[in-house]
Amino acid sequence: MKTLSMIAQKGGTGKTTLSIHLAVQAQLADLQVLLVDTDPQASATAWWRRRRAEAPALVQGSGEHLADILRNAKRRGYDLVVIDSAPHSSDESRISAGLSDQVYIPSRPAILDLDAIGASTELVSDLKVAAKIVLNGCPPPTRLREPNIVVEARQALTVYRVPVCDVAISQRAAFSHALIDGRAVSEFDGKGKAAQEINRLWNTLKEDLSL
Ligand SMILES: Nc1ncnc2c1ncn2[C@@H]1O[C@H](COP(=O)(O)OP(=O)(O)OP(=O)(O)O)[C@@H](O)[C@H]1O
Ligand SMILES: [Mg+2]
Repeated sequence: MKTLSMIAQKGGTGKTTLSIHLAVQAQLADLQVLLVDTDPQASATAWWRRRRAEAPALVQGSGEHLADILRNAKRRGYDLVVIDSAPHSSDESRISAGLSDQVYIPSRPAILDLDAIGASTELVSDLKVAAKIVLNGCPPPTRLREPNIVVEARQALTVYRVPVCDVAISQRAAFSHALIDGRAVSEFDGKGKAAQEINRLWNTLKEDLSL
C-alpha cells in the first residue's frame, strides 16, 4: 500500500480538488483507493456524499487517528491512500506527511501563493519525505508553450529544494462543474482537457509511487 499526502499551509490552493481527482483516477485504473479527509471543513466528505459511486472509499479522521487509519487500510487491502489535509495546521500536515510515501504541495502560480509555500517545503525537507510542488489553477497552455506566469513560477520555485512537477493543472470550469454532483472531471468529460491534465498528473504519481 502506498500513501500520498496533499498538504499546503495556504487555503484554496487545490488540495481537495487534486486529492479527489487523483483518488478517482487511481480507482479508474482498478486500484483500491481510500481517501482520508483530515480537514474539519470536510469538503472532500461533502463531495463524497454527493457522489453516486461508492468508490473511492472515504474516511474522516484527524492526525491523531491517522496511523490507525493507515494500519486498517493496509489490512483491508487498499492499494493507495490519499490524505487531504487542512490549511493552516502545520502539526496535522506534519503527521500526514510523516506517514506518507509521497507528498504533493499544490500551489497557485501567483506570487503570494508561491511566497507562502516555504512552510510546507521546510516541513517535507525536515521529514526527508519525497515531495513535489504541483502548480494548480494555471492559465491554460497554448499549443506550443506554457504561459509566462507558469514559467516564472517554476523559476521562482527553484529557491526551494523541492522539485516542481512537470504537469501543471490549469484553471478550468470542468473542475468546479464536476464536483457539484460528486464526480471528477474524467467522469464528467472524459475527453476534455481537464481530464487529460489529471491523467498526466496521475501518470506522474504512478511513477513517483511505483504503482
Ligand atoms: N484547477 C482548477 N480549476 C478550477 N477551479 C479550481 C481548480 N482547483 C481548485 N479549484 C477551485 O478552487 C477552490 C479551492 O479549491 P480546493 O477546495 O480544492 O482548495 P483547498 O486547498 O482544498 O482549499 P482549503 O485550503 O480550503 O482546504 C474550489 O472552489 C475549487 O473548485
Ligand atoms: Mg480542502
